[in-house]
Amino acid sequence: MLTRPLIQTALPGPKAKAILERDRRQMSTSYVRPYALVPERGEGCWLYDVDGNSFLDLMAGIAVNTTGYAHPRVVKAVTEQAQKFAHVCFSDFTHDSAVTLAERLAAKLGGGYRVFFGNSGTEGIEAAIKLARYHTRRPYLISFAGSFHGRTLGSLSLTASNAKYRRGFGPLLPHVVHLPYPHPYRPPLGASPENVGQAVLDYLEHLFRTSLPADEVAAVFLEPIQGEGGYVVPPKGFVQGLRELTQRHGILLVADEVQSGVGRTGTFLAMEQEGVQADIVVLAKGLASGYPISAVLFREELSTWTPAAHGTTFGGNAVSVAAALATLDLLEEGVMDNARRVSEHLMRGLLELQKKHPRLGDVRGRGLMIGLDFVKDRETRNEDPALRDQVQQKAFEKGLLVLSAGPSTVRLAPPLILTLEEADIALDVLGEVLRAVGA
Ligand SMILES: Cc1ncc(COP(=O)(O)O)c(C=O)c1O
Repeated sequence: MLTRPLIQTALPGPKAKAILERDRRQMSTSYVRPYALVPERGEGCWLYDVDGNSFLDLMAGIAVNTTGYAHPRVVKAVTEQAQKFAHVCFSDFTHDSAVTLAERLAAKLGGGYRVFFGNSGTEGIEAAIKLARYHTRRPYLISFAGSFHGRTLGSLSLTASNAKYRRGFGPLLPHVVHLPYPHPYRPPLGASPENVGQAVLDYLEHLFRTSLPADEVAAVFLEPIQGEGGYVVPPKGFVQGLRELTQRHGILLVADEVQSGVGRTGTFLAMEQEGVQADIVVLAKGLASGYPISAVLFREELSTWTPAAHGTTFGGNAVSVAAALATLDLLEEGVMDNARRVSEHLMRGLLELQKKHPRLGDVRGRGLMIGLDFVKDRETRNEDPALRDQVQQKAFEKGLLVLSAGPSTVRLAPPLILTLEEADIALDVLGEVLRAVGA
């Protein structure tokens, strides 16, 4: 194991530079290249670029590589399945391993859920939107400011983390209402950090009385921890309050656990820590350690749609399913326990750094879903996107991969196999970065 990232060339190195130049000429201009990383191979939590530089990866392909790069158990499962078959079109033809995966996922939620497999987070959210409308025959959908649910037109209609994702693509779905998210560090609605959860619930009841008929609302889409919006944890009691309110009005609660699910927060679902069961749960990103898959789990009694009402060609792909089964095995054999243990250690170190660096305004998160929010000063808590970008870039130059989220947050979403020693390396490098940028 490496004791430090090793950066041997000025970044980007010559090979990376040449590929980035081809990328710039050839690829869609919609891609983002936040820093000049061109990987060649990965192992565990380490990524090696085409110029031989090594990086400690605390972003895991945006919270995807649950068991790190090329975990031998995942590689074995994928290889063995690829030698049998990759695809039979699960929409029409079933196979054993996909049913097994569905059974295991449903059991993790305590049973009573059916499963629909897709390929990506956004496809899972589309399925949830369609199911919610189909089952309730109600038109309205509610999501939160700051939320990210995907980029296809249905999920994009719910997404509200950045206007640039939506600009130019309208008209989006009608009948979508965005609520303020109960952000404890920057509370909306003139609320305090203590009462912001209740303030948002009261605001929703106000909308029900004035403009939004509750009996026309199909579902509320909630990220139990906002991801793209800045790794924001809602205040205690909010999710329970929302569950109670939705139940009272016959509205479905959809937990978008695309980023927060599959052990990332130290429990299989982030919702478990709220003590709340959603009607529909969407998983994707981390489910198969890098292989494309999404799973929509929905309560048995919602399964009123008829054959062919919804489907997809690649969903339930046997290679992705094999990777997901291996990932679940590893989570159950100790990877999730590791996430909890390393999270505590990392959090302690980050809170120490926060004491020394006043512009690191907030350190928050659960498990290995941790956000560092950078501010102009502690008093106003005004966001400092430029400082955040500097932190991200400087970390990259020192061989530590982190990624922005929201207006002023750096997110840490490492593989859940990160060791305590690797967490210490990350803390060391982050300390150097914060000193270098004058945070
Ligand atoms: C919470 C959440 N939902 C949905 C999505 C969309 O997933 P995908 O990019 O796989 O379509 C994302 C992706 O970042 C996400 O974080």
